[in-house]
Order: sequence, then structure tokens, then C-alpha cells
Amino acid sequence: MRKKIVAGNWKMNKTAEEALSLVSEIDNMVKDEVSGEVAVVVAPPFPFLQSVGKLVQGNDKMHLAAQNVSEHESGAYTGEVSAAMLKSVGVEYVIIGHSERRLYHHEDAQTLYQKMKATIAHGMKPIFCCGEPLEERDADRHFEYVGKQLHDSLSYLSNEEFDQVVIAYEPIWAIGTGRTASSQQAQEMHEYIREQLSRMFDAEAAYNCSILYGGSCNPKNAQELFSQADVDGGLIGGASLKSRDFTDVIKSI
Ligand code: PGA
Repeated sequence: MRKKIVAGNWKMNKTAEEALSLVSEIDNMVKDEVSGEVAVVVAPPFPFLQSVGKLVQGNDKMHLAAQNVSEHESGAYTGEVSAAMLKSVGVEYVIIGHSERRLYHHEDAQTLYQKMKATIAHGMKPIFCCGEPLEERDADRHFEYVGKQLHDSLSYLSNEEFDQVVIAYEPIWAIGTGRTASSQQAQEMHEYIREQLSRMFDAEAAYNCSILYGGSCNPKNAQELFSQADVDGGLIGGASLKSRDFTDVIKSI
């Protein structure tokens, strides 16, 4: 069985104190209420990675993620954070290619590929994000669009490298908008993604790859989305900033 994962992307929210209180609430709720096999991932902003990581260390369900990583190994890159640095503070997953980074920071397919290489080389798992804007969905080109995103950044990875990759399908029109993809729209895209992966890598690796849904996922719609055959969990933005909502989403898996 492939791994079920629910990841909380905190984006640029919370101060140091707020981050610690949020994660300690989540940690306690997960200990008390979550019994099934699920990896719970939290992705706080960089300055809080170490303190948040320490807090969840004793809870084997909880894992630490970064929201970004530099494609460079080290050196004169002011403001950047390397994969080795992330690894050294206990990071296990790195979100790569979120639509907000593609859009506001002009991250292209080649850069994303290099970020994935750096992440995997340092023993962490990339959560590679893909997803189409509304114009592409409306023009019925969403499969083609997502297929190209996958191909352009992933196809140069080896089978061994691909084994470490988690995919998150996040239709841009559903991110932070309150408008969710229907469970049918999510399932058909996830199935398509898995099929594309099986063309690029071996079929077993594609079958075992966790594909998460993201975009206005919340306690009300999570169960329906997670019940789909190819939906292996979620990448949660807004609802991950409230411990009760996030835990309820986790319990929907
Ligand atoms: P949202 O964000 O849940 O607030 O829509 C999801 C994401 O951007 O990862």
C-alpha cells in the first residue's frame, strides 16, 4: 500500500510563538485522536523549522517539511537556504514548485528539477506540486498542461530518485479560493498523473507514489476527496493554520 500523507503548508503565516503553539496543539491532537497509518507533515516558514521540528521529534506520526530549497549546494546566494541546511535541522520533506513560487518567484521547470535533485541527494523527499490555471481548465487543456509540468521537471530523474518523490496536484483555481475540485475532477487528474508517471518510471514505482490533492481542502470536503482511489492525502493551506481543522482533515483519511 502506498503511504497516506496529510501535509500542512503554513505559507508566510505565524510568528515564532504562534508557530510553537500551533504545532504543539497539532502534536497533542494527533497523539490523542489519530490512530490510522498516516504521515502528518508540517511545513512552517524557515525561521521556525528547528523549533517546530524539536517539538514533533517524539511523535513518530509527525514529520517536518520546508516550503522551498535552493537548487545550489552552497556559496554566495544571499537569502537562499540549501538542502544540506534543511537536512541538518531535521527536515524530511521539501515542497517544490508550488504555484505561488512558480508565479511570484518565476521558478521554471529546469530550476524545479535541480531543486528536486538537491533535495533527494540530501536524503529528503520532494513534494512536487503541479496544477493548471483556470484558463487551461476552461479550455479543456488541463491534462496536457499538468502532463507537461510533470514531464519537464521529473523525466530526468532516475527510478531510484523518483522513489523519493511525492506529487501534489493543486489546481490553481482552487488554491485559497474556497472553490474545491470535485472528487471526480481530482480522481481523474490523479489517475492521469499516475499513468504519466508509469510512462516515465517503472510501473510499480508509479503505483507506489503518493499523490496528494491540494486546493481549499477542509474538514467538510476532505473525506470525499480522500475516498478516491488515486487520492493518497492532501496538501492543506488555510485549514492547516487551525489545529482543530487540520486534525479533522487528517482524521478524514
Ligand atoms: P489552500 O492552499 O488549502 O489554502 O487552498 C493549498 C496550497 O496552496 O497548498
